[in-house]
Amino acid sequence: MPSSLALPDLTGRTVLVTGANAGIGYWCAEILAQHGARVLLGCRSAGRAETAASSIRAQVPGADIGIVPVDLGSLVSIASAAASVEERLDAVICNAGVKAADRSARTADGLDLMAGTNFLGHFALLAQLGDALADDARVVAVGSLAHRFAEIDPATLSQPWSGPSLRQYGRSKAALMAFAFELNRRWRGTARAALCAHPGYAVDPLTPYRDGLAEVSSTMRALASLSRPFVQGKDAGAAPIVHAAVAADATGGDYWGPGGLLEFRGAPARVTASAQVRSVDVGVELWAVAEELTGVRFAT
Ligand SMILES: NC(=O)c1ccc[n+]([C@@H]2O[C@H](COP(=O)([O-])OP(=O)(O)OC[C@H]3O[C@@H](n4cnc5c(N)ncnc54)[C@H](OP(=O)(O)O)[C@@H]3O)[C@@H](O)[C@H]2O)c1
Repeated sequence: MPSSLALPDLTGRTVLVTGANAGIGYWCAEILAQHGARVLLGCRSAGRAETAASSIRAQVPGADIGIVPVDLGSLVSIASAAASVEERLDAVICNAGVKAADRSARTADGLDLMAGTNFLGHFALLAQLGDALADDARVVAVGSLAHRFAEIDPATLSQPWSGPSLRQYGRSKAALMAFAFELNRRWRGTARAALCAHPGYAVDPLTPYRDGLAEVSSTMRALASLSRPFVQGKDAGAAPIVHAAVAADATGGDYWGPGGLLEFRGAPARVTASAQVRSVDVGVELWAVAEELTGVRFAT
């Protein structure tokens, strides 16, 4: 785990992390628990969630961990997950994400899998969490460097796409980011805040071993160590995201990422988001499209 994290004592604070059973989401959860937070693991597999919870407890004796079953690719699952949260959330980290090469892949509701999971799933979840969000809650959207190469067209977001799958992935992450910036604008005048953060280029072979999580052979680890000057482990990738969620110097509308070369690795720093994801027009149009596609209204 990155040793340089300057985070406050989080005792008494509760953070929901989606996709917390693997990769960056897992590390967000472990770091938060290490700093005293109660962490709710938002996961679609009960077994993988239990494995992650056990691993965190093994690393952080006395860790306060709960599990919220949620499949971000199912509006029914999202609605019941949101309704099941009975405690106040001080932060929500919208981390769960999927990169799919198959353009026919769909969510349970027939939405494009990447747009539906990465953006619309989190839109529907936050919209329905309602009063479970603390009056000064922070929401962090986990974006990506890929957003810079993406063109968001809200009207066609969930329609069949063509071209490289990376472009549609970038669109889905850009849409999540544009939504977070729009949410922050709509929360202006309240103590709530929405921010974006990205993990840089974060890979499993550079990530410390955790029982039951990603299995990486020693050969892969050895080979990957050559890339360490350029990329980082998922533990380090989690750092800017956790920073955005809880650090005192992070505020609504911020975008955090690794501060090193090309933002691939490094300690958390404020970084620059594209003009498109910060655009008010795009944010407003996306919001309307998201309400229509999910059938969920957002009371802000
Ligand atoms: N790694 C990078 O370099 C990088 C760079 C930029 C952005 N990101 C973003 O960072 C986030 C985490 O990436 P990662 O590298 O840690 O990926 P990962 O190791 O593949 O983990 C993805 C997590 O998302 C969960 N997830 C996927 N679909 C879900 C669904 N329908 N419902 C609930 N959970 C779901 C997965 O759960 P299952 O185990 O159930 O599949 C898993 O816990 C993603 O949003 C990704 O776009 C990563």
